[in-house]
Amino acid sequence: MQDKIRQIVAEAREALEKADNTAALEALRVQFQGKKGSLTQLLRGMGQLSPEERPQMGALINAARESIGAMIDERRGALRAAEREMQLARETIDVTEPRPFPKTGTMHPLYKVQDEMIDVFTGMGFDVAEGPEVELDTFNFELLNLPKNHPARDAQDTFYIEDNMVLRTHTSPVQARTMQTRKPPFRIVCPGRVYRADEVDATHSPVFHQMEGLAIDRDVSMCDLKGTLDAFVKSVFGEDMQTRFRPSFFPFTEPSAEVDMSCMACHGKGCRVCKGTGWIEVLGCGMVNPKVLDMNGIDSNVYSGFAFGIGLERIAMLKYGVNDMRLFYEGDTRFLEQFR
Ligand code: PHE
Repeated sequence: MQDKIRQIVAEAREALEKADNTAALEALRVQFQGKKGSLTQLLRGMGQLSPEERPQMGALINAARESIGAMIDERRGALRAAEREMQLARETIDVTEPRPFPKTGTMHPLYKVQDEMIDVFTGMGFDVAEGPEVELDTFNFELLNLPKNHPARDAQDTFYIEDNMVLRTHTSPVQARTMQTRKPPFRIVCPGRVYRADEVDATHSPVFHQMEGLAIDRDVSMCDLKGTLDAFVKSVFGEDMQTRFRPSFFPFTEPSAEVDMSCMACHGKGCRVCKGTGWIEVLGCGMVNPKVLDMNGIDSNVYSGFAFGIGLERIAMLKYGVNDMRLFYEGDTRFLEQFR
């Protein structure tokens, strides 16, 4: 029996040396030490020994068990260390390896223009104001001197949500809202989305962007309006740009004007872009109609003001030479990346 024990220990030593991973090691542990393992078999066989031999054999078997256990532990330690070593080698990342830069987004041309315009106007003392896109008829029309059934309403094909609620057709309702909540003097610009029931084509979209301007103070005159808008055109399109004011009509301004700037394609000589006139229309404006001031709680005997409304798409198209407005909304990255 002693030989048998020695043989088992020798077998175990040999097998353990060959085990090259922790799974194989576990199989060996079961083989030698498990319930059906060779040492357990020997223990079971002790019944056949004489009572004097039993304690001695028992001690020998336990010693063998312990020494196999110690060998297994030692081997396990070595294998684990080796496996960990391998894992670390496999998972090593070379953080210095050069890689292509991931693609980044670009600022949308409309918002680039919007930001630039906000910079220009805040530089002249204007604050940015905002208002809701779902607007009451009252603010979108009535308080701007466009009563119900007024023919001038037809100029703006309106999306109605309810009888008295619309998708704002322009940013001008923010004028009315600001006049009702702020005490003059103040100067605001209001950028935002506006909606009109227009068919989509190269120059129309049911959703587009405007930037409203409003300045109210004592003794504000047409000169202030002209100076402000001339400075705006020069900052966005270049110092050599000329502006001219043509009489026009808006119910909320009196007098009203449309502003043209010299054609940036031909510098006023006349070309296809400006249809031979040398001028390009850029925006609408005027002196706030005293009726509008009074309706919104500002005394027109004390205060006067000017207002303007600028189409952002129009400015972006002129500035970047884009001839189809739809390009702004299609999200084609080949187009957008050009504004990086
Ligand atoms: N609200 C006008 C429009 O959308 C533009 C405008 C604003 C004109 C302010 C004059 C003053 O057509």
